Amino acid sequence: MALLNILRYPDPRLHTVAKPVEAVDDRIRQLVDDMLQTMYDAEGVGLAATQVDVHERVIVMDTTEQRDHPIVLVNPELVEKSAEMKVSEEGCLSVPQVYDKVERHARVKVRAMGRDGEWFEMECEGLAAVCVQHEMDHLMGRVFVEYLSLLKRDRIKTKMLKKSREEQRA
Ligand code: NI
Repeated sequence: MALLNILRYPDPRLHTVAKPVEAVDDRIRQLVDDMLQTMYDAEGVGLAATQVDVHERVIVMDTTEQRDHPIVLVNPELVEKSAEMKVSEEGCLSVPQVYDKVERHARVKVRAMGRDGEWFEMECEGLAAVCVQHEMDHLMGRVFVEYLSLLKRDRIKTKMLKKSREEQRA
């Protein structure tokens, strides 16, 4: 397994729309394993392939406190969305140290293939529902800060660019 480099907002590659995975083969299983290792290492609850510059519909997540329940979603689709909406605070490994409120469906049902290539359905609420919607947005080239006001987004962009300049200098 290997740690993958996570793209940072406002990297334009984060706005790439991912393609469906054709088959869950060894290459995809390797990607999934590397993404899980990268997500756990970065202490994130979810990671989309887009964030590691692979533009295929693959998500990994683990919203448990014990960090022992990895979930793999290949070619995910939302098959049900609650009418009820909920606002919660989100963060993203591609936008480190930025947290803000986003409104999403309170509950969703997702259909996807797992690491074994088998289709399954999963009902999500709470953090898992937020995570699935956040990660599926990544696959569409959308980062959560795009739900915020233009003013806030500009501030975040400036902050991120400054941060990467500082890191390059260090
Ligand atoms: Ni994210």
